[in-house]
Amino acid sequence: MTGGSGCVIWFTGLSGAGKSTLAEALGGYIRSRGEKVELLDGDIVRKVFPQTGFSKKERDEHIRRMGYLASILERNGVFVIASFISPYRESRDFVRGLCKNFVEVYVSTSLAECEKRDVKGLYRRARAGEISSFTGIDDPYEVPPSPEITIDTAGESVEESLESLVNKLKSLNILE
Ligand code: ADX
Repeated sequence: MTGGSGCVIWFTGLSGAGKSTLAEALGGYIRSRGEKVELLDGDIVRKVFPQTGFSKKERDEHIRRMGYLASILERNGVFVIASFISPYRESRDFVRGLCKNFVEVYVSTSLAECEKRDVKGLYRRARAGEISSFTGIDDPYEVPPSPEITIDTAGESVEESLESLVNKLKSLNILE
C-alpha cells in the first residue's frame, strides 16, 4: 500500500452525491486488509460542532481544520478517508498542500440526480426557501479542475462504484 506512510483520500461533491456512502464502503474495504483507517465526515463532524455554519468563511475554516487533522493522522500511518462537500477550490488545495499523499476524489453526481435522490429532504427545503446558502441551489460548488479520481454514482450500485474506485486507487499505487 503506501508503505506505512498513510494517505488522505478526500471526497468532494454535492450533498447527496454519494460521498459518505462510498467513503464508508472504502473504509471497510481498506480496514479488512489490515490497515489503520479513520473516517472524517461533514455530517458527523458538524454534529460535534453544531455552531459551524455554511458561509464561505465558516466552510473554509471547517475544511482547513479538518485538513490539518487529516494530515496529522496521515503522518501516523493512517488511511484517512474524508468526505466533505468542500465546495471551494482554494481550501481543497490548502489541504492538498498539508498532506503528503493526497488523493482528491470528485464525486461528480449531477445536481439533478442529487436532487432527485434528496435522501435528507434538504433540496426540497432549500428550493422552498427554508434553508439558505445551500450548495448547488443558492451557494456555489467549484468543480475540481484536476482531481486524481472522478466518479459519478448515478446508475451504479455502491459495489460497482467501490470497485471502480478501488481499481483507480490501485492504478495510483495507493492500494495494492
Ligand atoms: S462543507 O461545505 O462545509 O464542506 P459539509 O460536508 O461539512 O459541508 O456538510 C454538508 C452537510 O451539511 C450536507 O450533506 C447537509 O446534510 C448539511 N447541510 C445543511 N445545510 C447545508 C447547506 N446550506 N449547504 C450544504 N449542506 C448543508
